[in-house]
Amino acid sequence: MLTEEQINHLRKFAPPSRETGYTRSIYSYPAKFLSSLPHELIKTFTSPNELICDPFVGGGTTGLEAMLLNRRFVGYDINPFALLISRVKTKYISKEKLEIKLEDLLKLVKNFKKPINDYLDSIDKECLGESISTEINLLATIINTTSFSLQFQDFFNLALIHVTKIVGRRDFEQRKDFQTISLIPMFIRKCKKMIEGVSSLPSSVKYPPELILSSNHRMDIPNDKVDFILTSPPYIEVDVEYQHIQIQRRSINKSKRTQFISNLLQTESLSKKELCWTGQGGNVYWNNLEASLSECSRILKPNHFLCLWTGYKKKENQERLLNLFEKLAFTLEESIPIPQSDNRAASSRSTHHPRETKMFKQDSIFILRNKLS
Ligand SMILES: C[S@@+](CC[C@H](N)C(=O)[O-])C[C@H]1O[C@@H](n2cnc3c(N)ncnc32)[C@H](O)[C@@H]1O
Repeated sequence: MLTEEQINHLRKFAPPSRETGYTRSIYSYPAKFLSSLPHELIKTFTSPNELICDPFVGGGTTGLEAMLLNRRFVGYDINPFALLISRVKTKYISKEKLEIKLEDLLKLVKNFKKPINDYLDSIDKECLGESISTEINLLATIINTTSFSLQFQDFFNLALIHVTKIVGRRDFEQRKDFQTISLIPMFIRKCKKMIEGVSSLPSSVKYPPELILSSNHRMDIPNDKVDFILTSPPYIEVDVEYQHIQIQRRSINKSKRTQFISNLLQTESLSKKELCWTGQGGNVYWNNLEASLSECSRILKPNHFLCLWTGYKKKENQERLLNLFEKLAFTLEESIPIPQSDNRAASSRSTHHPRETKMFKQDSIFILRNKLS
């Protein structure tokens, strides 16, 4: 049982606050949750060396906080891009090594003589303009086809995805130099910021997080092994793009969701149905959630806790969630509402989802106790 004092302590960390420290703010993964409350939840519900699991690891928030607090961690996600972010966020690399690799990369940018691969389609290129498209393809080719090892590929791919997302949102054509503009300075700035974060991580950790690609809710963990589960499943009522990024060019009235990320990572482009469980009047969604929560109940030790960060606007969905907890014999110990943020910079949720989605308004942390056996 949680004490009144513990609940009041946790409530203090519910209001969204700016993400700072380590790699917490290197990439705003869509519908990412904020780290301060997860950090406190981990401290409240576990001791060092215990095992924490997140079946929807996304941008790796739980994994990073678990690692920083010396807990063992295993995280799953269907989206290879989520795992890329989680890997970069939780793997220390020294500043010197990263700076040398960045210099190597920039030298190759100046002198690259080999053929350049195409990671963008024709509409992507039309929206981004010729010079930026050429630079994105050049950087992507160098990062992924020369001698960079996996950890540097991950690092630079993430920086490249970030700057592609940013340039995709801008209306560059309003600038006179639209056809000749360069994204290299922006890429360098992003890399330097990421270098600060990655090199500030602990250089050796007792338990490097385990990050696993998975799509069927099965977790390769024996029964009753996990001490604590902290997760945020997909949302049924909010339109979230976990894998595609939006690029737009208003002057030619074009806006599209590019498949650049899956082209870059050479993975399949996942549909909304697979990532957000849309379809069949919500049944796909609830079947998926049930499959996942029942797997959580299996791997979680009896009487241990599962914290679910989620929210539903419609009353019928709120009721369905509570019925599902009951069906799976979870006891709802407490729910802590996440207040809506007025500070847009405070959270990727508010930057990815304009405030009118009221995502925070209905979001809560549901603290659930697993059945006894
Ligand atoms: C709300 S996000 C999690 C965000 C995460 N808490 C963070 O801080 O970044 C939900 C995640 O569920 C993942 N997902 C959707 N369907 C899945 C499935 N069948 N198996 C595993 N992960 C899935 C999505 O790719 C997405 O990363």
